[in-house]
Amino acid sequence: MTAGGSLAPTLPGHAYTDPAVFAAEQERIFAREWMYVVRADELTGPGRAVRRQVGPDNVIVLRDRAGTIRAFLNVCRHRGARLCLTDSAEFGNAIRCPYHAWTYTLDGRLLTAPNWSAMANLDRDRYGLVPVAVAEWAGLVWVNLAEDPEPLAAQLEPQLGYRFGGQPERIERWRLGELVVGARKTYDVAANWKIIQENFQECYHCGTIHPELIRAIPTFASFDRLGDGEYHTDGYGFADGLDAFSITGQARFPLLPGLAAEDERKYFGMVLRPNCFVSLLPDHAIVHRFEPVSPERTVVVCDWLFDREVAQAPGFDPSDTVEIFHRINEQDFAASQWCQPNMTSRAYRAGGVLVPLEAQIIGGWYYDWYRSRMGAL
Ligand code: FES
Ligand SMILES: [Fe+2]
Repeated sequence: MTAGGSLAPTLPGHAYTDPAVFAAEQERIFAREWMYVVRADELTGPGRAVRRQVGPDNVIVLRDRAGTIRAFLNVCRHRGARLCLTDSAEFGNAIRCPYHAWTYTLDGRLLTAPNWSAMANLDRDRYGLVPVAVAEWAGLVWVNLAEDPEPLAAQLEPQLGYRFGGQPERIERWRLGELVVGARKTYDVAANWKIIQENFQECYHCGTIHPELIRAIPTFASFDRLGDGEYHTDGYGFADGLDAFSITGQARFPLLPGLAAEDERKYFGMVLRPNCFVSLLPDHAIVHRFEPVSPERTVVVCDWLFDREVAQAPGFDPSDTVEIFHRINEQDFAASQWCQPNMTSRAYRAGGVLVPLEAQIIGGWYYDWYRSRMGAL
């Protein structure tokens, strides 16, 4: 499909509403790529677990007795009951099915079952939990339902390289794996996951809906400085007189250890497909995790991360810092919800258009990536 003049087409309206498209995304994207599911430090010890929907499958992610993080399909091998019935759980030493009490070790082996002596020939090895691939990056745990997935780095590094002008290692200066959560907010957004991600990849809207953001970072309101909308690989500078990216603009926390002078007074944001955003600031970082729940609903969990010593100091109060991006989140999610109901309109059957400033949605491989997995819609 073509669009007029300097405009490029978006996806068609039904890509954001059709249950068949969502089901295909579950299989072709969320079941094949690494998905960010939980912070490693939330799995505080052996037996500590979370439950996540990953594409078409429900998954348990836990820490075993050796301290290793593992993931399994949340399916009892006896008659298929869900083993974990809550979003977070404490299994203790073993995973016991709530139905007939088949019991598994934390590394997934079948340990025992009621009336075990009557099943003399049961091959225990055959009935262990089905494992799911797990990898950790920057303190974030990712899982992949594919049987033999590529390494997580192969998924993340090209995206980080794109963000940092061919130098993916620049993100290491923020030492994300050593930061801890100072605040978390969860947003239940009535919009398709792609609408939210597309929004995050353009700043054509920033001057209209983000007054606090453009006060802090004037580049975001300047079409001249935004140019073609591609990432500024050296970041976006703070406004004169602004000492921190917070609602007051006053610095309350020291710079993160490890940053270079050129990282000070800068903002870097990036989408890490398929379900993570990372935002980097001089004194904190923000990580968004997306759970696509249905074609028209996405849960977004947003963590504000701080240096451990800062976050554990008496009187730690991140509210100034949290408030600015919390407002940005609410503004972005409201805008996403303005669009979602109209995705079924006859006016949007063929979709809309992207202006040159929104080129990153294509140039940032977003549509290229999406179409390479989904084909023509
Ligand atoms: S379904 Fe799990 S023990 Fe029967
Ligand atoms: Fe925005």
